[in-house]
Parts: sequence; structure tokens; C-alpha cells
Amino acid sequence: MNKTKILMVCLGNICRSPLAEGILRNKLDINKFTIDSTGTGNWHVGNPPDKRSVAVAKKYGIDISGLRGRQFTSLDYQNFDHIYVMDSSNLENVLALAESKEDRAKVSMILDTLFPGEKVDVPDPYYGGDDGFEQVYAMLDEACDVIKQRHT
Ligand code: 4NP
Repeated sequence: MNKTKILMVCLGNICRSPLAEGILRNKLDINKFTIDSTGTGNWHVGNPPDKRSVAVAKKYGIDISGLRGRQFTSLDYQNFDHIYVMDSSNLENVLALAESKEDRAKVSMILDTLFPGEKVDVPDPYYGGDDGFEQVYAMLDEACDVIKQRHT
């Protein structure tokens, strides 16, 4: 059976999308799904996730310390079935690399799962405190529950 391939995208691929990847992976059967994350920017290629994302994930029993940053490319459209972006700026950057209607149809904002059509961003916690990471975790956990319902 073909696996369903899901990609999480943010800007740096060190705060939000690695958390989303870890959370979703923890909810789904890895024999049936491929789950990955990437960033539209290239500053953190090869880097582990932000310590604060690693810590909040660990608090909820999820280990994301082994993930490494990589940059989104147009090849990701060939390799994934569903692409969830964290905010409207990610949406713009990802759609800029789409080559077809089919590519564009794969992309949605992750909080559309909770607030359909409202274009709600997952706020970038990078420049804030630890609270921001807790809030992002809670949002992504709820969103990933909906993604799980969609695909199982
Ligand atoms: P992320 O957060 O997009 O959730 O990984 C960021 C991390 C780093 C930077 C921006 C956003 N940065 O500019 O280095």
C-alpha cells in the first residue's frame, strides 16, 4: 500500500514545523504515513530544531532532537500529497514554487483545520519566550488531531 505523504512547512524549519512533524508522527501509524518538515528559508539547513521546541516536545513525550533543517524546493510537490504551512507568508512562498493546479491543491494553512477559511497564522515563536512555544504546541496538537481524523 502506498503511504500518504504529509509535509509541514514554516520559515526556519527549526521551531514550528519540526514540532508539527513530531506531533503528527506521534499520532499516526508510521507504516502508513511519511511525515516530514521543511522551511522556506535556508538559514538553518542542517541544524537541529530550536532548543525550546525540543523541550516542549519532550515535555509531552515526543523526541524531535534528531531532526535537521532543510529548505523547501519544488521537488517537494512531487514527493508529498499534502503540504501544511504555518502562516500566510509560508503560503505565498510555497505557492510561488507550484507548477500546476495539482501542486497548488496540495497546499493549505494548518490552522484551516480548526478555523476553515479564516487564514489564521501559527505565530512565529522564535523571538518570544517559552510561553510562545507552549501555545504553538497546543495549536499544532489540536490541528494534528483534525489531520489524523481526515486521513484515518
Ligand atoms: P520557524 O521559526 O519558522 O518556526 O522555524 C523561525 C526560526 C528562525 C528564523 C525565523 C523563524 N530565523 O529568521 O532565523
